[in-house]
Amino acid sequence: MDVDPTELLCLAADVARDAGGVLIEGQSRASVVQTKTSPTDVVTEMDNAADALISRRLLAARPDDALLTEESGEASGKSGVRWVVDPIDGTVNYLYGMADWAVSIAAEVDGVTVAGVVEAPRRRETFTAVRGQGAWRNGEAISCNRDVPLNKALVATGFGYAAGRRARQAEVLLGVLPHIRDIRRAGSAALDVCSVACGWVDAYYERGINAWDIGAAGLIAEEAGARVGGLDGEAASPEMTIAAPEPLFTALHGLILPLDPTRDG
Ligand code: IPD
Repeated sequence: MDVDPTELLCLAADVARDAGGVLIEGQSRASVVQTKTSPTDVVTEMDNAADALISRRLLAARPDDALLTEESGEASGKSGVRWVVDPIDGTVNYLYGMADWAVSIAAEVDGVTVAGVVEAPRRRETFTAVRGQGAWRNGEAISCNRDVPLNKALVATGFGYAAGRRARQAEVLLGVLPHIRDIRRAGSAALDVCSVACGWVDAYYERGINAWDIGAAGLIAEEAGARVGGLDGEAASPEMTIAAPEPLFTALHGLILPLDPTRDG
């Protein structure tokens, strides 16, 4: 199909910047309007407002495209391009007035992610990537840390919202912690994976990550030198997402797999 990934990135970056501006403006008065998997899995009116703004802007520019967004689900299209959108990744951070949240927009062509932006406006950071062309933070090329052994690795992770899921994730973490340098829990999967891409952490793993959390950040990390995948050679999925450069990916995978990380409590 004749579509230029760089043009898709420009559109995504434009829309993410505008959504970021609206979200900054509304953060101090954000309140919960809905809960999802548990009483702590919240949606604010600003998630919905940003979701609507992003969808409207993308479809105004490219009316035949499909969309998958965290707050409004799937809308079909006929162009072969699908946008995968998380209006706020790190909603709890957003609700509490913190700065670690991001707008995430990825563009897929025929099912392959070709461009992505993670916009963290309170941090004044824009992470971008185009498949095969590299990854950037505020326009500067970024790359993962190389050759970090597992026992020296700083590993980002996160936890789901449902009690049983969290209890199991804590058990898995007990098995991981003695074998690594330390963990970090920032509260935004997209920013965690961008942190792998920048070398601010060495690796990331989490169960329960959806396409909208990882779409853009996964491409950014891959273009920065990471392998992004699931367990046993599977693609990254809600079952498990791991991001790290090799050979750390394989070492972390080998540590996590016997801990039965896909069983919920
Ligand atoms: C959440 C964040 C968090 C992760 C959760 C995600 P949301 O996304 O990315 O870091 O640990 O698993 O659900 O709810 O803020 O969009």
